[in-house]
Formats: sequence, C-alpha cells, structure tokens
Amino acid sequence: MNSFTFHNPTELIFGKGQLSQLENKIDQLGSKILLVYGGGSIKKSGLYDKLQTIFQKKNCEIVELAGVEPNPRLSTVHKGIEFIREHKLNWILAVGGGSVIDASKAMAVGALYDGDVWDFYERKAVAKDALPLGTILTLSATGSEMNRGSVVTNWETKQKHGAGTTFPTFSILDPENTFTVPKNQTVYGISDTLSHTFEQYFSHTPEIPLQTGLAETIMKTVIGNAKKALDNPEDYDARANLMLSSTLALNGLLAMGVETDWATHSIEHAVSAVYDIPHGGGLAIIFPNWMKYVYKEDVSRFKRFAIEVWDVSPEGKSDEEIALAGIEAVRNFFNEIGAPSRLADYNIGDDQLKVMAKKALPFGPIGNFKKLSEEDVYEILKMSL
Ligand code: NZQ
Ligand code: ZN
Repeated sequence: MNSFTFHNPTELIFGKGQLSQLENKIDQLGSKILLVYGGGSIKKSGLYDKLQTIFQKKNCEIVELAGVEPNPRLSTVHKGIEFIREHKLNWILAVGGGSVIDASKAMAVGALYDGDVWDFYERKAVAKDALPLGTILTLSATGSEMNRGSVVTNWETKQKHGAGTTFPTFSILDPENTFTVPKNQTVYGISDTLSHTFEQYFSHTPEIPLQTGLAETIMKTVIGNAKKALDNPEDYDARANLMLSSTLALNGLLAMGVETDWATHSIEHAVSAVYDIPHGGGLAIIFPNWMKYVYKEDVSRFKRFAIEVWDVSPEGKSDEEIALAGIEAVRNFFNEIGAPSRLADYNIGDDQLKVMAKKALPFGPIGNFKKLSEEDVYEILKMSL
C-alpha cells in the first residue's frame, strides 16, 4: 500500500428533512449569501420555495446566480465572482448537481484571487483561500459535494479542465431532492459513479484488499439499486443508496494508498469540450473501450472484477475469457439501463477524433494502469465511434 494523507473537512448532512439544518449554517456563516443554481429544476421541484421560507425567516440578503449550465462555463463563474465582490457576500450556497457545485467552487476561490480564476485550471496557480461554500445536492453523480475538484469549461478556447479548488464547508444530501431527476440524468449519474470506482479500482498497487473491497461494495450497491431507482424514481432507499455511493466513490476514500488512473475522465472531458455532451453519457461510451484496450496490463485484476462485481461464472473459461466477459457485462449493464454506447449516439463522427485525442492530454501522458499517449487515446476514441 502507498503512503498517503487523508483530509476531508466537509460536514455531510444526510437524510430526509435535513434542509432544516440550513438555519444553523446561516447563523454560523452569515446572512449575505450568493445562491447559485441551474436551469430551474429547483423551482419545479419546490426546493426553491422551501429555501425562500428559510431565507425570509433568517432575514437573509440573497443575491441569485441562476442558469449555471451543465458543463459549467467560465463566463458564468466570472459573473458569480463579480456578484460576490460587488455585494460583499459572506458565502455561497450551491443548490443543484455537479455543475452548479463545481461552478460555485470556482467562484469561492476566484473571489479571493487577484488573477483570473482560469489560472487554477491551467495549473498556473494553486488555489489557497476560498469563501465558505455550502451545497444542497439534487443529483447523485459527481461526488463534488464532498471533494475539492471542480471542472469548468472555457467555451472560447474549447477547453474543459479540472482543478483542485476547495471542499464544501457542508453539504446537505436529502435523497428526496433527487426524486425529480429524470431518467436520462439518473442513468448518467449511475455511469459517473461507477466510472469513479473504475478509475480507482484498476490499479497496480499491490496488497490493497480493503480498498478493493470498498470499491466492489460501492459498485455492487450502485448496480443493485440502479434499476429500482429507474423503475420507481421515488424509491427512497434506492435513491439514498445511490446518493451515498456517489459521494463515497469520490471523496478520497477509495484513493487512500492506491495509485489511481483517471485517463478515461480526461478523454471524456476532451469529448465534452468539443461536443458539450453529458459527462456520464460520454463515460458510458468510452469506459468499456478503455477496458478492452488496457485489460492485458493485468488480466487477474479484470478477472476478479468480472467474478466479484458482475457474477461472471469462471467455469470452463480461461482467465482472459473471464476478464473479457466482465467487460462485456459492463457494456450490457449500461445498455440495459439505457445509457448511450457509441459516440454516434451523440452524432459524433470521426472528423474531430485527432483534435479530441490531443485535448485529452493537456499536461502530458494520462493514466497509470496503462500510460496513454495521444495515439492510444485516438485508438480508444475510434473504438467508441
Ligand atoms: O440545471 P438544472 O435545471 O438544475 O437541471 C439539471 C441539469 O440539466 C438537472 N437536475 C439536477 N438535479 C435535478 C435535475 N433535474 C431534475 N431534478 C433534479 N433534482 O440535471 C442536469 C445535469 O446536471 P449537472 O449538474 O450538469 O450534472 P452532474 O451532477 O452529472 O454534473 C456534471 C458536471 O460535473 C463534472 C462533469 O464534468 C460535468 O461538468 N464533474 C465533476 C466532478 C467533481 N467536481 O468532482 C467529477 C466528475 O467526474 C465530473 O467530471
Ligand atoms: Zn466523473
């Protein structure tokens, strides 16, 4: 096992009715708040009205930044930073999915930085100070509610980059707030959560039975609850299990002592930077192809994955056949829940493959399970057409 330091200061407030704890948070953090949300799902679900009641009760001064895009834009982040400075706001409350939270993290660090916040995403500077940030999660997917990652798209340069920014001070996770997530977004969230475990499970670090078992349990929990949530969007326990799984899949737990990969995320970010497709949709297309491309680096890891996670029967099969059956099971599962399987599903042809392959490696080779070059990424994209 590798050496590591684990630090995660986010206060996680989980369960039905936990919105009531927002009042204490306003007492602690102040009443001048930037409220950040997306395209309006929080108005349709009734969450916005519940927030207004709390804000009125606590005499809050609220400045709203609405309309954060899925795959949030740098221009929107700039707008939020301006609002914070102009109105001298105490903290940010992000209400939504990963895009709203990521954009809010960028505002939290950008507001206290003299240069352009994009410097953090281009690795020209490291974020140090941040305004406090609270989140109310409405979509189980990214884990952004309990990590310091933020992914922002600079639409002018067509670059989508992640950066380490700031941990949320607190995150309120009420599974009921995900009841209204439509089928396609639920599928993308499931795909994203599984992909986060894949990125950390496929590792050459020896002797990591605990991390391996934790990742397998998260994967099995997601697989076991996916269809329940899709068939009955108001199944509280299914939504709760998906929600906790997505948080634990990317809060640092699975990465303890483990060399992780993350090549597939870099490839997906390059595809979304050019075509603006949903992150989880892109991952469902690319991940099984990455697996086929790299499994020979450690057939035994893929064999274990097939047997433990996907119940592949090893009888009468070679190790390689078992490994391949596991990869096939991933593809079949994504197909069964209605995830896209080819770039063509998003009308993406072969004309930009070279451009995307280049964009996937902005800072050099990617991945650790197998180090990928631009040519490797091109091959994986070609397999995904
Ligand atoms: O904008 P609204 O109207 O709120 O609608 C959103 C949006 O259209 C909708 N939605 C969210 N909650 C809902 C709901 N609709 C109905 N009911 C609800 N309760 O869902 C749509 C997608 O939202 P978005 O926030 O974009 O999805 P997600 O949470 O999947 O976030 C994706 C972004 O996060 C980044 C991705 O690259 C992408 O930009 N990631 C962030 C990570 C991180 N910070 O750690 C890691 C991830 O790997 C990922 O890269
Ligand atoms: Zn992801």
